[in-house]
Amino acid sequence: MTWPTVLLLVIVAAAGLLRWRRPAWYWLAFGVTLAAVRVLVRYASVMEACGLTVPPSRWRLMLARIANRPVPESRAPRILRLRPTHTGLVLRLKLRPGQDAFDVATASDRLRHSFGMYGVTSRELRSGVVEIRMTGYDVLKRVQMPAKTGTRPMRIPVALREDGSVHYRDYRAVPHGLTLGATESGKSVYQRNLVAGLAPQHVALIGIDCKQGVELFPLARRFSALADNPDTALELLEALVSHMQDVYQLIRAEQRVSVAVPDAEIAADIWDLPEDLRPVPVVVLVDEVAELALFANKEEEKRRDRIITALVRLAQLGRAAGVYLEICGAALRLRTRQGHHDAPRPAHRPNRAPRQRRDVRQHGLR
Ligand SMILES: Nc1ncnc2c1ncn2[C@@H]1O[C@H](COP(=O)(O)OP(=O)(O)OP(=O)(O)O)[C@@H](O)[C@H]1O
Ligand SMILES: [Mg+2]
Repeated sequence: MTWPTVLLLVIVAAAGLLRWRRPAWYWLAFGVTLAAVRVLVRYASVMEACGLTVPPSRWRLMLARIANRPVPESRAPRILRLRPTHTGLVLRLKLRPGQDAFDVATASDRLRHSFGMYGVTSRELRSGVVEIRMTGYDVLKRVQMPAKTGTRPMRIPVALREDGSVHYRDYRAVPHGLTLGATESGKSVYQRNLVAGLAPQHVALIGIDCKQGVELFPLARRFSALADNPDTALELLEALVSHMQDVYQLIRAEQRVSVAVPDAEIAADIWDLPEDLRPVPVVVLVDEVAELALFANKEEEKRRDRIITALVRLAQLGRAAGVYLEICGAALRLRTRQGHHDAPRPAHRPNRAPRQRRDVRQHGLR
């Protein structure tokens, strides 16, 4: 064997080993180049096979006939950009007239195996422009968050999505979160990740962990207040409601609305207040929320009603006062003796429960 053959064999063996043991390293060393070449070479034929081409327009057919040239071929979406990332490729396409983003989304599985990628997802960026994100390997098998993430106040990276992008929990965009999931689906680990992400930020953390505190109490030093049973949870929630009312008084005092103030400049939440007056935002983490709604006697039932009323008030009014709820549990039923705390029903509601509610019941979530 000559030395170039030996070198080639060593490279192929190293690539095979990397691909098996360290797919992320393989992707950066070999995969990204191979995949980019494969996508560009196969692009036209794959688009044709996946039904993502449009027939030539009438004027092109006419020009070809006049010039006595062969009939022009169908055209695939135009490639605007092909960008390699540390987990895959991002392809930006300009759709042809008559195509829409849904066509690309429905073809994503066919694109996946035609391009030899691990996963393909697509989304519309703007009218007629679609971004296809392809992953070269299973990014969730061994999660590695990118070294640089877009952390901002009240926005923290908590997970990696299957398309390789980072999932952020952004409290300014989505103030309250409710995570319902079966046991061992990762709710408490998610909450602990939130605590770790929020820890360096200027935010007060309040915890209610009705699993006797086993999930959140190990992180107690970062919390401003923690409750591990429904009695202390009630005190905490009612204190939060009164804090919320104080914040609203502050916002009202600072509003100084007159007819000359443009709508966009009226202070309507804590973020519109000057920094020196702005109260610290509060994130309330509740684990095993269903425990708060259990009762065995009249006294406990009264306590349950007060807890639910406080929770519902915080969920309705908390956002502007900078009180954000992060609730996890395996089941949820918000009902007081006065009635459901659900969305208002229409006056002409039928006697039976709406279809969506029945579906939810069938899945055991109430
Ligand atoms: N992001 C993750 N990555 C890897 N493993 C995880 C992740 N999230 C959860 N797990 C695993 O799942 C197990 C159960 O997670 P967790 O305790 O958060 O579930 P849970 O939904 O809170 O369950 P329960 O309802 O019983 O409290 C954890 O011990 C951990 O091993
Ligand atoms: Mg849990």
